[in-house]
Amino acid sequence: MAIPEKFIQDLVDRSDIVDVVSGYVRLSKRSGANMFGLCPFHSEKTPSFSVSPDKQIYHCFGCGKGGGVISFIMEIENLSYPEAVAFLAKRAGMQMPEETDSAEGRKRARMLALNKDAARWFYAQLSQPAGAPAVAYIQKRGISPAMVKNFGLGAAPDTWDGLRDAMREKGYTENELFDAGLVKRGRQGGFYDAFRNRLMFPVIDVRGNVIGFSGRILGDGEPKYLNSPETLVFNKSRNLFALNLAKKSKSGYIILSEGNIDVVSLHQAGFDSAVASLGTSLTPEQARLISRYTNEVIIAYDNDGAGLKASQRAIGIMEKLDIKVRVLRLNGAKDPDEYIKTKGPEAFRKLLEGSENQMDYRLRAIREKYDLSVTEQKSDYLREAVELLARLPDEVRRQVYAMDLARELGLPSDVIVADVERRRDRLVKSMFKQTQKQQTQPEKQLQPPTRELRYDDPASAAAEEGIIRLLYLEPSLISTPGLPPPEEFSAPGLGRIYGALRKRIEKGQSVSTDHLAGELTGDELGLLVAILQKPETLSRSRQSIADYITKINEQKQLRSGGTDLMALRDQLKKKKGYEG
Ligand code: GTP
Ligand code: MN
Repeated sequence: MAIPEKFIQDLVDRSDIVDVVSGYVRLSKRSGANMFGLCPFHSEKTPSFSVSPDKQIYHCFGCGKGGGVISFIMEIENLSYPEAVAFLAKRAGMQMPEETDSAEGRKRARMLALNKDAARWFYAQLSQPAGAPAVAYIQKRGISPAMVKNFGLGAAPDTWDGLRDAMREKGYTENELFDAGLVKRGRQGGFYDAFRNRLMFPVIDVRGNVIGFSGRILGDGEPKYLNSPETLVFNKSRNLFALNLAKKSKSGYIILSEGNIDVVSLHQAGFDSAVASLGTSLTPEQARLISRYTNEVIIAYDNDGAGLKASQRAIGIMEKLDIKVRVLRLNGAKDPDEYIKTKGPEAFRKLLEGSENQMDYRLRAIREKYDLSVTEQKSDYLREAVELLARLPDEVRRQVYAMDLARELGLPSDVIVADVERRRDRLVKSMFKQTQKQQTQPEKQLQPPTRELRYDDPASAAAEEGIIRLLYLEPSLISTPGLPPPEEFSAPGLGRIYGALRKRIEKGQSVSTDHLAGELTGDELGLLVAILQKPETLSRSRQSIADYITKINEQKQLRSGGTDLMALRDQLKKKKGYEG
């Protein structure tokens, strides 16, 4: 990493983790040295998120996230390592060193400046003759001047060089324009404007940077929308159109729609928490981004097959993050824009208030799969619906839905209610058995919470964890003879942590979690912090590390089929002697 070690150290020293975390989580002092709060990374009712002022680390027992102050900012602000460093530097009032501006950092800053200038230029075109067709289209779509300003809409004139020449005059090179996706390269090697004769929507991230553009054709034609390509600053799957505005809404929920025009129309009608994904279906990254601002999302997708499918996918993604999801049914209109235009904002508000909950929506989705006039399909529908209702935790709601279902199918309601309850009983019993099984198999609990990091050989992994812990606490142990290379760790995730640790120690660098945050993934860092919290006695550290090494070697031989049983027995004997 180009950022000097010393700078990181100063930055970490000046960014107390309790101060920084307190900006996001209400921490209260409890149990000894640690502070506790509700984890900002997963939804919970009892605090399992702890911050240690002494160790300057955080750790969640619930979801396994953990790290130092830099990784906390990376996680919660959705930033890369250098971005998080810059974020904290700004907060601490520290000037970023020149090197940090590394080639990439400088390029990003230039591109953002260029995008902002381009957005201003598109906006300015609206009051020029060249912008007249876009202005006419804005009027035709009924977009108010206030919304034009609010969203910074603009016009790409019907020329090949308008933006290019204006930006070159401002000192940007053609290559910079090209990298930002604002111009394309012609056959003769020259460059021409990528957006022509379009209504321009700047895409602005939650920090207020113009990161890209969507351009809508003025009227009918293909392609309807042209989006900026992926660039150094634009990643479609990690951003949402209008989240910069929606995040300030007081409504308490976010409305997720499909189209840019829908979003503008919704904001204009007073629904200021509308966002849209950028021409793709909702991604897990976008859902996480949303979950930073709200735990309730109302889906207002287009009223067609594609919209229905996209809603179902989005529900699945958001449920994993414990976001409450409701789905709007836009009867008699193809999208939110048309609904508001034809029925008015009040009708839309009513729809919002009565928007069907997840259970209604899911039942409807199941129902639509079957033809209820066919007896066989009717009973398939019944079975699937009962299965779904049985999962409702609330007994009254289970019964209400069961009675509705009975009415719908013309069946006696007490039969269906009993059916649901029977299914529920069985479900609860099997869940109970599962938890019991987990409790009687303690090695399962040694596993890290993330599936990618699972241990295939828990006994070896425990020793690998031990080596990591000891090296972290006492880097001089790096000289211990027989330390295996990282590839020999049975758990690849632990191997990577160990590898990063070794590299830093061998270079004489510091090994705090803040320094490692740049080299490990969030999951790996969380695992490291969890490992560090397990007890370790340093008084016998030399012997402990030797024991861990022995254990790893033994397990390795066992795994390879114990071909050399004699050698293994010798080793076991030696180990006994050691301990005795
Ligand atoms: P209207 O038809 O004017 O209501 O437009 P809209 O903004 O509501 O868009 P629509 O519902 O047709 O499409 C939803 C979203 O899909 C748009 O906002 C774009 O992000 C994306 N999209 C639509 N058409 C295209 C296309 O031709 N190319 C690309 N890349 N994206 C598109
Ligand atoms: Mn639309």
